[in-house]
Amino acid sequence: MSEILLQVQGLGVTYASARGKVKALEGLDARLHRGEFLAVLGPSGCGKSTLLKLVAGLLRPSAGRVTLAGEPINGPRPDVGIVFQQPTLLPWQSTLNNVLLPIRTLRRDLAQGRRRALELLQLVGLETFANHYPGELSGGMQQRVGIARGLVHDPALLLMDEPFAALDAMTREHMMLELQRIWMATCKSIVFITHSIPEAVFLADRIVVLSARPGRTIRELSIDLPRPRTVATMGEPRFNSICNELRSLFTELVHFN
Ligand SMILES: Nc1ncnc2c1ncn2[C@@H]1O[C@H](COP(=O)(O)OP(=O)(O)OP(=O)(O)O)[C@@H](O)[C@H]1O
Ligand SMILES: [Mg+2]
Repeated sequence: MSEILLQVQGLGVTYASARGKVKALEGLDARLHRGEFLAVLGPSGCGKSTLLKLVAGLLRPSAGRVTLAGEPINGPRPDVGIVFQQPTLLPWQSTLNNVLLPIRTLRRDLAQGRRRALELLQLVGLETFANHYPGELSGGMQQRVGIARGLVHDPALLLMDEPFAALDAMTREHMMLELQRIWMATCKSIVFITHSIPEAVFLADRIVVLSARPGRTIRELSIDLPRPRTVATMGEPRFNSICNELRSLFTELVHFN
């Protein structure tokens, strides 16, 4: 296996709020190899988005450490792209300008960025909406703008928090195939958070399953289905038996909750 890009060790996060302390993660260990596609599966509220925000450098751990290429993560980094669970678009900016946000923040070449942004808008099926504003788009369309924004600066590490959850079944399937294609063509490393077992099995090289809150790794599974995976892969017995194995694990998790 290739070098470890991202390492999470003994990670703990406790939120302090007016309602008291909430332990979101405790003693979580995980790693991502360079070029790997890792899916993180876990029940709602177990701390998946918290984990993503930590790796993105948007939140500090209460315990443990997170390193990227051996360096502790101290804040947001230019070589990391993030697709948030909510689209989080700027309502006063057009679709194109929202996608261009990382290009402007990182002071990259704007003409080249614009070309890439338009390519990505085409990829997510929104090329005719470049000049529309977020308020004129559906929830699923806004989420696709968020996906284009996460990819526009060509980050080596892409963090995706349930990016396809708001999409209709047809678009979701199309986006899964496209994401696999982009990943295979560009050698990116991806952390993909999802609730969907088939989505995780279809996309991932490895799946990390988190416990109910406070989240920690309770299972790791390598997915050795050959690539490229296609729509037909989802009908194969091996695909279904992995999904069933994960489903029974989840049933146990929910019983423990
Ligand atoms: N800013 C915050 N202040 C206090 N508690 C928080 C905060 N953010 C998250 N939490 C709590 O931490 C826990 C983990 O939240 P998180 O959003 O990471 O879960 P999640 O696994 O992403 O859930 P979902 O699958 O529903 O998106 C939850 O119990 C949540 O209520
Ligand atoms: Mg979440």
